[in-house]
Amino acid sequence: MDQASGLRGEGMGSHAENRRIHLPRVISITSGKGGVGKTNVSANMAYIMATRFGLRVLVLDADLGLGNMDVLFNIRPKYTLQDVLMGDRSLPEILVRGPGGILILPAASGVEEMTSLSRDQNLRLLEEFENLSSDLDVLLIDTGAGISENVLTFNLASRETIVVVTPEPTSRTDAFALMKVLFRRQADKPFLFLANMVRDRQEGVALFDLVSRVADSYLPGLSLSFAGHLPADPSLTQAVRAQKAIAEMLPGAPFSKGMEGVVRSLLSRPPKSGGEGGIGLWMKRLAGAGLETP
Ligand SMILES: Nc1ncnc2c1ncn2[C@@H]1O[C@H](COP(=O)(O)OP(=O)(O)OP(=O)(O)O)[C@@H](O)[C@H]1O
Ligand SMILES: [Mg+2]
Repeated sequence: MDQASGLRGEGMGSHAENRRIHLPRVISITSGKGGVGKTNVSANMAYIMATRFGLRVLVLDADLGLGNMDVLFNIRPKYTLQDVLMGDRSLPEILVRGPGGILILPAASGVEEMTSLSRDQNLRLLEEFENLSSDLDVLLIDTGAGISENVLTFNLASRETIVVVTPEPTSRTDAFALMKVLFRRQADKPFLFLANMVRDRQEGVALFDLVSRVADSYLPGLSLSFAGHLPADPSLTQAVRAQKAIAEMLPGAPFSKGMEGVVRSLLSRPPKSGGEGGIGLWMKRLAGAGLETP
């Protein structure tokens, strides 16, 4: 896969006339416990948004651990965010075009610095992200797991946060712990609950009810809504091994179908208007963690 040469390539810009979303939606995909499906959710959500709904999507791999998105999509980017922070490349120059025309921002190296930029780096990156905004409908951020400062910052900066939870008890309790920390820092932050690796919708809803009840008792006022469920699907392993998004390789698989439903419902419920949104504000909030405003 080639490093994308600018944003105006094939498939980009063609939706400018009939855009359904004016400010890009900024959605972080997160979890308390690791290994619950965030990267597969991010990749397939991006693919479905792009191919079935015609949206222009950028995925930011914000997991500091071993590369995720690049392995999943079998891409070897020449440049990363680090090159942008050093001033050697512009943001559009480092973007990689993935399947379905989605854009991937290779950030495994450089992403940690995003939350502690110098003023110059911050202003440059802010400008670059703002320039990118008009060419995007959605920015999806695949975060790391847990409650490290970096994960918290990416989630607090994003207007919408999807918490991926599986039926494993530790996934539930760790999701609760993560939401607790975020809620303490930003009480009006809404959370979207995505049940993964469940048998059926009923199990997904039961999982949601369980976590909601605990949240109601211990964190009154926390806003948590059900974003849908994704079935445990053995064929996902095949796609992961083939280094492809399952929605591309096996569009009829239960996970792919489930994801289509999740995306449809997400798109039918845009975040409440009134508050500011978009990438510019996201970037300001992100950098605000490590910077005093001028
Ligand atoms: N619905 C599902 N059905 C079957 N297997 C799944 C499902 N969701 C995720 N998996 C499997 O779980 C494993 C972890 O998935 P993934 O890498 O997406 O998780 P992650 O939350 O991004 O992990 P990490 O925290 O390490 O970044 C993968 O092997 C994936 O195939
Ligand atoms: Mg991951």
